[in-house]
Amino acid sequence: MKRVLVVTFSQTGQLADIVGRVVGPLRAGGHAVHVETLQPRTPFPFPWPVVDFVDVFPECVQLDPPPLQPMRLNGDEDFDLVVLAYQVWYLAPALPMTAFLQSPAGQALLRGKPVVTLVACRNMWLSAQQTMSRLIAAAGGRLVDHVALVDRGPALATFITTPRWVLTGRRDGFLGLPPAGVAPAEIAAADRFGKALADALDADIEKSGLPMLAGLGAVTVNPRLALSERAGLRAFRLWSRLIRAFGRRGQRRRWPILALFAVYLILMVLTVVPLSLLLQTLLAPLLARRLARLKAEHEQPSGCGCERMNRYVS
Ligand SMILES: Cc1cc2nc3c(=O)[nH]c(=O)nc-3n(C[C@H](O)[C@H](O)[C@H](O)COP(=O)(O)O)c2cc1C
Repeated sequence: MKRVLVVTFSQTGQLADIVGRVVGPLRAGGHAVHVETLQPRTPFPFPWPVVDFVDVFPECVQLDPPPLQPMRLNGDEDFDLVVLAYQVWYLAPALPMTAFLQSPAGQALLRGKPVVTLVACRNMWLSAQQTMSRLIAAAGGRLVDHVALVDRGPALATFITTPRWVLTGRRDGFLGLPPAGVAPAEIAAADRFGKALADALDADIEKSGLPMLAGLGAVTVNPRLALSERAGLRAFRLWSRLIRAFGRRGQRRRWPILALFAVYLILMVLTVVPLSLLLQTLLAPLLARRLARLKAEHEQPSGCGCERMNRYVS
C-alpha cells in the first residue's frame, strides 16, 4: 500500500469530479489517498461578480495569493506520490494552488517527492504549467507526469461560454454554442489515470523518475496556442504591474484601471487572438518546425501517445 496526497481546489465542482475519477481506482487498488481541498481564508466568490473576476487578475499573474486556512496536514507527513490538481486563472495557476506551492507546509510535502500535475481549464494552460514546474522544482519536488483536460469546444465559442459559466454559474449550451467545460465523457474517462497510477505504484515505478501515465493521451498540445499564450503573458505581466501600482486587491481606487484592462481584454480576444491564429495558419509552412518543437516540449513528461489506452479504458 502506498500513500498518495492529492491537493486540489474547485469552484464549480468540475475539478472535484475529475479528482474523484482519479482517486477512485487508486483507493480501489488498495492505496491510501489523502485529498486535501485548499480553503482560501476568504473564499473566492462563485459565480464571480464581474469586478471581483477582473480584480483577481494582477495577483494571479504576479503569483501573489491571499492566505489559505490551515490545512489538515502540517507538512511533516510522508507521502509516496503527490498529485496537484489545479485550474488556470489568467494564464497562471489558480491562486489557492499558488498559495499552497509557496507555503512552508506545501513545500515540505513536495520535497524529494514525485509529483503529478493535473490541470482542467478552458484550453490555455501552457504558461501556468511552466509556472507549476518551476514552483515544484523550487520546493524540491520532481514532476513525473502531467495530465491536461480542456474544453474541446471551438476556441471562439469557449471565449464566450467559459466567462458566462464563471460569471453566472450557467454551464449549459446556448445560442447554438456547446456547453462550457470539459466534456462529461472525458471526465468519466479520467479514471484511466487513477488505474494506471495504482498499477505503477504497485510496481514502484514512482521511484524511477519515469512517467507513469505515458500512452494514455494525457496531454495534447495545440502549439499555436503556445505562441498566443506567450504574447498574452507578456502583456499580462505589464498590465498586472500597472494595475498593482494603483492599489491592492479589493481597493476601489484601482477600478478605473481595471475597467481599462477589461476593455483591452475583450478587444484582444475579438481582434488579436483570431488575427494571430489566422497569421499562424498562413505562415504554417514557415512555422512548422518551431510549432513541432513547442508541441513536443509542452507535452512532456507524459506525452500525447495513446498506445496503452486499450488496457486502461473500459
Ligand atoms: C478568474 C478566472 C480566470 C480564468 N482564466 C483562465 C485562463 O487563463 N485559461 C484557461 O484555460 N481557463 C481559465 N479559466 C477557467 C478555469 O481554468 C476553470 O476551467 C473554471 O474556472 C472551472 O474550474 P473549477 O470549477 O475546477 O474551479 C479561468 C477561470 C476564472 C474563474
